[in-house]
Amino acid sequence: MFTHLDLRKKFADFWKEKNHKEVPPISLVPQNDPTTLFTGSGMQQLVPYLLGEVHPLGKRLYNIQPCFRSQDVLEIGDNRHTTFFEMMGNWSLGDYFKKEQLSWFWQFLTQILGFDKKRLYVTVFAGDKKNNLDPDNESRKIWLELGVPENHIFSYGPEKNWWSRAGVPDNMPEGEPGGPDSEVFYDFGQDFKLHENSPYSSLKCHPNCDCGRFLEIGNSVFMQFKKTKNGFEELPAKNVDFGGGLERMLAAANNNPDVFLTELYLPIIKNIEKIVDKKYENEDDKRKIRIIADHLKGAVFLIKSGVYPSNKERGYVLRRLLRRVTIKMYQLKGKKVLANDLNLAVEAIIEIYKNIYFEEKDLEEIKPVIGEEIDRFNKTLEKGFSILQKIEKPTGKQVFDLYQSYGFPKELTEELLKEKGLTFNQKEFDEEFEKHRALSRTASVGMFKGGLADHSKNTLRYHTATHLLHQALFDVLGESIRQEGSHITGERLRFDFYCAKKPTTEGLKEVEKIINQKIKEELPVNFVVLPKEEAYKIGAKAFFKEKYPDMVKVYYIGQSLETAYSKEFCGGPHVTNTKEIGKIEIFKFEKIGANLYRIYAK
Ligand code: SER
Repeated sequence: MFTHLDLRKKFADFWKEKNHKEVPPISLVPQNDPTTLFTGSGMQQLVPYLLGEVHPLGKRLYNIQPCFRSQDVLEIGDNRHTTFFEMMGNWSLGDYFKKEQLSWFWQFLTQILGFDKKRLYVTVFAGDKKNNLDPDNESRKIWLELGVPENHIFSYGPEKNWWSRAGVPDNMPEGEPGGPDSEVFYDFGQDFKLHENSPYSSLKCHPNCDCGRFLEIGNSVFMQFKKTKNGFEELPAKNVDFGGGLERMLAAANNNPDVFLTELYLPIIKNIEKIVDKKYENEDDKRKIRIIADHLKGAVFLIKSGVYPSNKERGYVLRRLLRRVTIKMYQLKGKKVLANDLNLAVEAIIEIYKNIYFEEKDLEEIKPVIGEEIDRFNKTLEKGFSILQKIEKPTGKQVFDLYQSYGFPKELTEELLKEKGLTFNQKEFDEEFEKHRALSRTASVGMFKGGLADHSKNTLRYHTATHLLHQALFDVLGESIRQEGSHITGERLRFDFYCAKKPTTEGLKEVEKIINQKIKEELPVNFVVLPKEEAYKIGAKAFFKEKYPDMVKVYYIGQSLETAYSKEFCGGPHVTNTKEIGKIEIFKFEKIGANLYRIYAK
């Protein structure tokens, strides 16, 4: 058996030998980036260097980076997707390029790990006419020279063979780096059922088919472009950004098509089997057990990174993971599983990674956080579940009530309803949510005249002012402006943004002037609900790090949607007229990173 410790060591030794320096992994919760929920790839910390800054450790780097991708939550349950994973990466910052990268990775797979060449397939970028991006014939040629037969080389368009943090070229914001990539797949060669839902072919299996026969084990991204107003521009240096999932590479090295049966999951699975009294056997049970194992591991790592269950942002992601674990155990066992019963599974997770990410004492900190959350949810679980089971025509209000009174996260209810073939109206849910917020606001105004009421009113004012600020920055400083985050307290607003050029004092004065002008104009603030595509079309500003549902709310500030000064994807709430905001003053401005700036206003 090939162990994960072998794999870590072989990977590190291989790159060290080729003069690469190790960059230490960053936290799963990015420290200086309030806008990114979790570290989702090894390159996260290298963005400024891929864009041209000089890295203190040189031009050749490698590391193993813990990653968490919350957007993959609903894909968990098959043989290879996980929310938490470790990414093995190597980088060339304008040093070597395609030829070395592909040859070296091939050497690592075939000589160091001893993979059978017959089982390896590669993919290359087929080009993107719309964005004037050529097919990557160079990579194809290199693979042929390395001895990969023509029928093991597949070409795909940008949705499969282009990488940027924002995805395909069309979705990239200005200033974002990206490039074509070349992936390597391992073929388990078994009699996998042909996958009918594959968008590429319903007849023939191929590397990007979803049936589970092929497993992507590494991706060499050729970071050579930056998106600009006029399309794609070459970066100052051509970079390599390689990432390969450690769990997957381990599965392939052991010729085992199920990532959950590698030593990185098996001890957890064994414990879950005992807890729920079910075997990891039929497809449906397997799916649930995988979800439990994945989410529990994700939760352990998030807690270790300082996240606690809550109703907001990262805390909410963690809460959803743990509540989903609780539900799946309940479904498998047919009765509640107590938090204490889970301890062995948590211990198994920490044992797997001891000396790498955990110390003995972590257990005592992590166990109670998981325990409390599960216990709390267990109190309302059965009641909520039985209500849910009786629902025949779900309404947004019922889904909201399940959330409000029984702690069922909306996404979880959605999934449970789907199991019964039912859906609900998201808009209705949102309206219910808003209504509830408005009610509790009114209630708090009534109860405590001073502080709280003022505070929530101020929050609304600052929220609307943030939209004005965003648009004014755009008008004064140009189209490179991109929101990186914002934060509001009762006392001030904070706005982080990317700007290609350093804003001047005069520029900021002008921004301030425009905001106050718009406040003086007493513009109404309203929203419409639109299909997402429509909202993009009318130029509403979106936050590129956010995934939006198909129907979105767009707040606009002005007499009508057509003439509005600002249009923005946003859940609200806002003041009803800009005159309620009062005078705005930018009182602090600072640089927080490469081309990243922060404004405070009150
Ligand atoms: N950034 C690329 C990825 O995440 C390769 O490291 O897949």
